[in-house]
Amino acid sequence: METSKRPETLRWVGDSADGHLLLIDQTLLPLEVREIECRDVPSVWEAIRALRVRGAPAIGIAAAYGACLGLQRFRTADRSAFLTELDRVIEYLAGSRPTAVNLFWALERMRKTASAFRESTDAAEMLEGLMAEARRIHDEDRAMCRAIGRCGADLLADGSSVLTHCNAGGLATAEYGTALSVFFTAQDQGKRLHVFVDETRPLLQGARLTAWELMQRGVPCTLICDSMAGQVMREGRVQAVITGADRIAANGDTANKIGTYSLAVLAAAHEIPFFIAAPTSTFDLSIASGQQIPIEQREAAEITHGFGRQTAPDGVPVYNPAFDVTPARYIRAIITERGLISPVDAARIQSVVGN
Ligand code: MRU
Repeated sequence: METSKRPETLRWVGDSADGHLLLIDQTLLPLEVREIECRDVPSVWEAIRALRVRGAPAIGIAAAYGACLGLQRFRTADRSAFLTELDRVIEYLAGSRPTAVNLFWALERMRKTASAFRESTDAAEMLEGLMAEARRIHDEDRAMCRAIGRCGADLLADGSSVLTHCNAGGLATAEYGTALSVFFTAQDQGKRLHVFVDETRPLLQGARLTAWELMQRGVPCTLICDSMAGQVMREGRVQAVITGADRIAANGDTANKIGTYSLAVLAAAHEIPFFIAAPTSTFDLSIASGQQIPIEQREAAEITHGFGRQTAPDGVPVYNPAFDVTPARYIRAIITERGLISPVDAARIQSVVGN
């Protein structure tokens, strides 16, 4: 049940010809809930790159609307100019972030939508079609998140305490989230739940976003530094770990926010089940294993000058991978909108996701 009203993570305002995208600027949370307007493709690219909109499904949705923004000026152009521009816009948006496959999945849907139009279709109609596809991607994500919640809630017993990392909530999706959807659904079913929230260095998505979302919905939670997870597990305070994902390879190896792999290893050491919650749009069956997942490298300043204060000596060499890959063997199950994938192996993934 919703306990408070806030703007949607992202929404399209107006019609296809001259509407625009509004999104919550997540870099300002939890201090300020402010929507920003994106009226052109570079502003969508920048919002994705700067993590104003973030989380794999939300990035895909933003990019789909971004493609529509890019084609507004071409609605009176001829068909071939329209399609050439669409290719250019897709290529540009695809360069915003490399790891979350939902970005490429959504852009591919937009490309396929346009190429399916008949030769006689004019550009204005094609733009309408792209807009409809972007809205479908958005709506489908809502439904997928709800279904993931229903599927995963069965895994949590009344009174259990779970740990999560980064933010896989409504802010990372159309609404409701993936990992957080499991918690919200369990709570809606009347189960008592407690969530340990990793703060998630260096950009603090756990502290700034997940703690905020859980508190808004009245889910009891406790914030910890990432380095405290082992101690919390050793003290017997956690019965399950559930995180989201940015890309899942055909064999189940899963990329998610940096620190997830360490959590999975810790969970194995303490015999705590480790789950991934993700929609089928996060699977990349074109790659065999996690070794082929591109890992985003981000600016040193996120570590040396986090949130405006210098915390490391000038010129110190920095390594800042934004994601890591958890081998499938550490994952007890993947919670999808189509059901549970367990054991996590290529055959089971193919039977649930491949079609
Ligand atoms: O860098 P971010 O904040 O985009 O990373 C997000 C995550 O790692 C999430 O866990 C993932 O995208 C799943 S969102 C449902």
